[in-house]
Amino acid sequence: MKNIVILISGRGSNMQSLLTTSLNGRIAAVISNKADAGGLAFANEHGIPTAVVSHRDHPDRASFDAALAQVIDGFQPDFVILAGFMRILTASFVTHYHGRLINIHPSLLPSYTGLNTHARALADGVKIHGCTVHFVTPDLDHGPIIIQAAVAVLPDDTEAGLSARVLQEEHRIFPQAIRWLCADQVALSSEGRVVSRIHTPPNLALISPALE
Ligand code: GRF
Repeated sequence: MKNIVILISGRGSNMQSLLTTSLNGRIAAVISNKADAGGLAFANEHGIPTAVVSHRDHPDRASFDAALAQVIDGFQPDFVILAGFMRILTASFVTHYHGRLINIHPSLLPSYTGLNTHARALADGVKIHGCTVHFVTPDLDHGPIIIQAAVAVLPDDTEAGLSARVLQEEHRIFPQAIRWLCADQVALSSEGRVVSRIHTPPNLALISPALE
């Protein structure tokens, strides 16, 4: 069974979606860079070992990432999952976990990398928005894509409403992606491409607004 370490920084709802489903993997630990991350209590209640590696205890990114990697590697993970982990990681950290480091991002990448994705999508008037699970590469929010979910943007949408609907889809696609990885149905090739054994029906489409 694959060993999984999850990194969080906050409420941890994506981590909860991973802890409360069957992944065919073992969640070895939840690690946060913030001692007050809400998700830590949930992990503790579920008997998952937790650790805090505070970025504030380190003078620069390189030393924080080195300390973080040391704690992560103590759990011998097959996969390291970024579930709302709000630190930019150094290229050397990312390279150390090549093919094993997975992130969830609240937009249809490569659109809206970075922060405030829902507000930016609303400001642009896009009709379809969503979320992405991808392998992490040193190029922020640009790694090879495993799965995406699209939601319709409504005419009178608000940032809160749109973000809640996208989050609901995050909680569906993240466990699915990790399940595939644990079952060796998806992997990163040596050329840096996603190799997938998953069938996609050719007529799968979301049209927004809906056709009449
Ligand atoms: C999610 O929207 C995720 O896509 C982004 O940060 C948010 C974390 O939420 N990377 P949670 O902590 O999982 O509830």
